[in-house]
Amino acid sequence: MTSKSMDKIMALAKRRGFIYQASEIYGGLNGFWDYGPLGAQLKKNLRDAWWQDVVLLPCGGAPGPNGEPVRVVPLDSTIIQHPKVWEASGHVAGFSDPMVDCRETKARYRFDHLFVFVPADGDRKGKPLFAYQPGTASEAKQQKKAEKAFGETKSVALASVPRDDWTHLLAPEAEKVGSLTEPRAFNLMFKTYVGATATEEDVAYLRPETAQGIFVQFKNVVDTTRVRVPFGIAQTGKAFRNEVTPRNFTFRSREFEQMEIEFFCHESEAADWYKFWRDTRVAWWKSLGLAGENLQLREHDRDELAHYAKNGAGTSDIEYRFPFTAPGFGELEGIAHRSNFDLSQHQTHARTNLEYFDSERGELLPNGSRKGEKYLPHVIEPSAGLDRGVLAVLCEAFTEDPSRPSPELLKFHPRLAPIKGAVFPLVNKDGMPEMSAKLHAELVKRFFRTGAIEHDAKQAIGRRYARMDEAGCPYCFTIDGDTAASQSVTVRDRDTGGQERIAIDRVSDWLAERLSAP
Ligand code: GAP
Repeated sequence: MTSKSMDKIMALAKRRGFIYQASEIYGGLNGFWDYGPLGAQLKKNLRDAWWQDVVLLPCGGAPGPNGEPVRVVPLDSTIIQHPKVWEASGHVAGFSDPMVDCRETKARYRFDHLFVFVPADGDRKGKPLFAYQPGTASEAKQQKKAEKAFGETKSVALASVPRDDWTHLLAPEAEKVGSLTEPRAFNLMFKTYVGATATEEDVAYLRPETAQGIFVQFKNVVDTTRVRVPFGIAQTGKAFRNEVTPRNFTFRSREFEQMEIEFFCHESEAADWYKFWRDTRVAWWKSLGLAGENLQLREHDRDELAHYAKNGAGTSDIEYRFPFTAPGFGELEGIAHRSNFDLSQHQTHARTNLEYFDSERGELLPNGSRKGEKYLPHVIEPSAGLDRGVLAVLCEAFTEDPSRPSPELLKFHPRLAPIKGAVFPLVNKDGMPEMSAKLHAELVKRFFRTGAIEHDAKQAIGRRYARMDEAGCPYCFTIDGDTAASQSVTVRDRDTGGQERIAIDRVSDWLAERLSAP
């Protein structure tokens, strides 16, 4: 495993216009990120790849465990739903993190994110205990103070420090002990008001997941289309969580995008569909270049499962080893058997029958047809984070090679690369600019749906290659002094730096073959 520097990745992402801090000229807003020109296209390409492989041609046309083509239809539901949606889903009552505040510094911490340096022998000798947040500057500072106070120290979770000892706790960055408040539940949903009066009756929430919009439209989709269970409803869109400690670049943001499938099936088939989606989704991330040891699938232990998933087929996370989690992993996508929990909750809270009538099940009748069966379908939910996906793709693509004109480059999978190709005249004379402009126009016309084709006539050719390497452009085509006579151009491969010559009238097909390559 090679370790990559997150600082360098973030610097490159800023320098080349992938990701900027939101509202940066006003000092930024913690937990919010904007995508620049290259980042916006990269993100769109990842979202489009998901849409193509989930909605338009699910699983590449491979059959599901029932031997039939997998059916998934799209949906685009609103960010603000009826507030009762979130009561039914359990988010109003339960979607919260316990938090502690520091009265002195006004900092707010997730209770489970704070640790404390205590004396190894348990004897505080009248000195403070030193609280810190791992991975922040407070860790080294507090450790130093603790070692000075006690000699040998050990670190324990704040949760394991008896409440009576909290009066001796020195919070991170605080000067006086005892400034941490009791932990309080903090609901992660952003609140807003619908309408002009802004009273408590008008409270609404920004959705913390796109999933519930799917559940509440399940009946409409069944009634207005020809889908039959088993089938999926998929949507991409923004979700909002007022995370207590947003961090690690875009990994934990307060506004982010999800790509979710709710796949409805009969309870008896849930285990098969769970395995199918789990394996299909791992294969999908691999197909986009997250193929190495940095990707792993982790089945949840039984005690980690949500209450509605306890008796289900399972829950697993697809995880990526981000530079800031290494040697550990961070979640990219969760695949959960949610049983029929959500449909049954909405059925109760909305007082609407959401049962599905399955005419292909039930007792066999003398006329050869089936009696039918009414049931609330079970759900397998593959729920991926688009922003985390982009971050994983950026981290995976980031490569350092001091021997190259660009010591940092991005080896994006060609399908995701925001710039698909670049055309250069070697020098700005002898008919080369005209030939390159013509080739550029031809390529733009063919490839504009999936990304940019750059044209660059400035600087030395090495500098131009370097710029494209940094932007992750997989192929550069150069018109040189031989092009007019031989009707051929040089192609340079980003990953190997190798060059070959191909006929100028083959360039478009040559590129198309490589861009659609798996
Ligand atoms: N409907 C199920 C659900 O929302 P989740 O595990 O809470 O499940 C799904 O979220 C995915 O959304 C995660 O795997 C992650 O990729 C992404 N995600 C969740 N919280 C996020 C945050 N604060 N910032 C960025 N991405 C986040």
